[in-house]
Amino acid sequence: MCAKQKILFIMDSIIIQGGNSLNGRVNISGAKNAALPIMAASLLACGKLHLSNIPKLTDIYTMKELLANHGASIEVTDKNDSYDLAIDCSNISNFEAPYDIVRKMRASIWVLGPLLTRFGKAQVSLPGGCAIGARLVDLHINSLEAMGATIEIEHGYIKASCSGRLKGVHFNFNKISVGATINAIMAATLADGETVLMNCAREPEIVDLCKALRQMGAEIQGEGTDEIKITGKESLKDASYKIMPDRIEAGTYMIAAAITKGNIDITGIDYHILENLGLKLASAGVHVTPFNEGVNIKCNDIIKPVDVHTEVYPGFSTDLQAQFMSLMCISNGTSVITENIFENRFMHVPELCRMGANIAISGHTATIRGVEALSGAEVMASDLRASVSLVLAGLAAEGETIIRRVYHLDRGYQQLEQKLSACGADIRRVKG
Ligand code: EPU
Repeated sequence: MCAKQKILFIMDSIIIQGGNSLNGRVNISGAKNAALPIMAASLLACGKLHLSNIPKLTDIYTMKELLANHGASIEVTDKNDSYDLAIDCSNISNFEAPYDIVRKMRASIWVLGPLLTRFGKAQVSLPGGCAIGARLVDLHINSLEAMGATIEIEHGYIKASCSGRLKGVHFNFNKISVGATINAIMAATLADGETVLMNCAREPEIVDLCKALRQMGAEIQGEGTDEIKITGKESLKDASYKIMPDRIEAGTYMIAAAITKGNIDITGIDYHILENLGLKLASAGVHVTPFNEGVNIKCNDIIKPVDVHTEVYPGFSTDLQAQFMSLMCISNGTSVITENIFENRFMHVPELCRMGANIAISGHTATIRGVEALSGAEVMASDLRASVSLVLAGLAAEGETIIRRVYHLDRGYQQLEQKLSACGADIRRVKG
């Protein structure tokens, strides 16, 4: 992409004429938050990692750029709805993840564990905070140090090294972290001896990563529980793996059906990993009917207020909090949403208020008094999930909504406008 194209891309807006009820079918793409760590895991293998169902998202392009920067050779096959990737990390020559790439995507931190455990050295720029919170990396560092790594923070970089292999260890995370659990698992796959990780995150994307690692020859037990046991191997090998579907994308379309009083079949997803959202939607008066590899969402009634608080999996996901808040804006009562994972994940609130929502924030709690209808307005997207919550609000609002800074959406929603238009939404992207 040339500089001029990049500027136009950043200036894109989305324009929605609200009020259409959405009906039809949406097929869910591969999960961004599973694809990114599994791509990073390719650094562990001597052979090629063949991945399918990779979503077409800017975060994926950033991870590809990062792996290429380390010396990976990557073949891409376009399968229309997804990519197949063949990643060959047999000639890694650069152990530094530079600030210029890491600043674009915090998931870059996931090259730290693989580079360190396979090559004994890694230098990764500190990601820094972002719109949703400080997002520390102390747990990543502590777990790797416990395995015998020497880590220093210098000039904004995490500089990690070890002499010989990392050592298997019993390590208890003092706080649950998806990212730190992922880095520690990957590091442990090539460590000497057995590692037991306690107080691990249990997200389905971590289970997906462990399945992929097992295909590569890793020995792992307990993924999906809070205790994961890894027996280190001397090397990992070539493998093929299909990325799981994106539960946050699916959850977003479930809420899209509800907020527009529509009827959508969401296909290609195991409903069980979205049950928490399904139960909340049912409490709000929405009809939730799971079927084999999908769920139907139908709403022809008023939305009732429902309280939610975000938690680690299997609790209500922080990545669906903003979208659920948009729905609560038009409920017929007062609901309370508490954000427990990130300290600054209410950036969508002032924008929703510009659309006529009645929301008061106190600390990490938002009190939403439902209004009869939202009204279209010009709003600004601040992060990925905040952006899509504004799209949902715009679909339900009276009149026109213009959403600026939509590049956030392209990080996590493949063909968003196409998928929504196919269900009857009046939505279009305006370049520049
Ligand atoms: N934390 C620490 N120290 C650490 C790591 C995390 O204090 O070393 C804190 C964070 O600051 C945060 C909390 O722990 O307050 C949870 O962070 P976690 O590490 O679990 O999150 P993450 O790995 O940075 C992933 C997803 C997020 C998702 C969270 C929580 C990816 C690429 N990112 O982030 O996804 O919200 O887990 O489930 O998988 C998104 O997709 O929009 C997104 C932000």
